[in-house]
Amino acid sequence: MYNNEEIDEIIQKSENIYADSGTQGTGSRRKTGSWRFSGNKRKPVNKRRRVILIVLVCILLLLLILYIDSNVRLVTEEYKLYYENLPEVFDGFRIVVLSDIHGAEYGQDNDRLVKAVIAAKPDIIAITGDLIDRFQSGRPVERQLETAETLVKMLVRVAPVYFVTGNHEWDSGMVRPLLDMLNECGVHVLRNQYALQKRGGESFVLAGVDDPNGPADMLKPDELVDRIRTAEGDKFLILLSHRNYYLKEYSVLGIDLVLSGHSHGGMVRLPLTDGLIGPQYEFMPTYTNGLYSLNGTDMVVSRGLGNHFGWTRFLNNPHIVVVELKVNKPDMID
Ligand SMILES: [Fe+2]
Repeated sequence: MYNNEEIDEIIQKSENIYADSGTQGTGSRRKTGSWRFSGNKRKPVNKRRRVILIVLVCILLLLLILYIDSNVRLVTEEYKLYYENLPEVFDGFRIVVLSDIHGAEYGQDNDRLVKAVIAAKPDIIAITGDLIDRFQSGRPVERQLETAETLVKMLVRVAPVYFVTGNHEWDSGMVRPLLDMLNECGVHVLRNQYALQKRGGESFVLAGVDDPNGPADMLKPDELVDRIRTAEGDKFLILLSHRNYYLKEYSVLGIDLVLSGHSHGGMVRLPLTDGLIGPQYEFMPTYTNGLYSLNGTDMVVSRGLGNHFGWTRFLNNPHIVVVELKVNKPDMID
């Protein structure tokens, strides 16, 4: 037991200790308490920051991987389309659509692209414009022409190749050397013209229109279809047309199927959108990807394979379209 003097001495020593630490009375107790308290608090704050940082880095890495994938990995997408007026002998006829290449190369001499085309087993290959790029995308048009020549020389060995111009061909100032090269390589250039696809005594019409950026006095699509109907009757009709927003106009012409590109899939594809940025830099464009139908006319739009300025795609892989024509037999379809 302590006597009163001893207790006073203990209290005095205790107050001296607080005084030495620069604090006084009850306030010193709170301050000392808070020093310990804040020391304990710092650990969970740092830990939380580390977790947030790791999550952010993971998200950025994921976005980077998605961005690279969106611009590098080719995606092939198949569309089986059924028609009552398609001659039965063409059941299973396959068309590979390559659009908006813009001078791009996938692998050495586009070998990845050619392999993907071969794997699709096409009966014909349709190149629907913008094979070269007017902005040059860091590659002179002359170099793009060489790339295009190497590509089409391989494609014509896979299947007959048909070509229509896009806006970039006309804007590049190189449309004439491009068309000459394509003709020399054996590509069928359809400039408001058509070619019959023949099999087993039956045929259908494959037509193609120049891009509206072409000559002002060129044949218009309705005039072309008039000529086709006069010469070929009401044969099954496929139209190659670079621009993707004439479905309404084409549907009144009774065209069965339109194959288009131009939109680049709206560049960035997010859920519940049809792409974010259109070819005229419009926000939330339409008709940018896949199958659309109106009044009995189908239109399949490729998201394209290339870009204007470097890598501008996100969640929008370079797109190879395969259309398989099927004869519509109602009794065979559920
Ligand atoms: Fe394009």
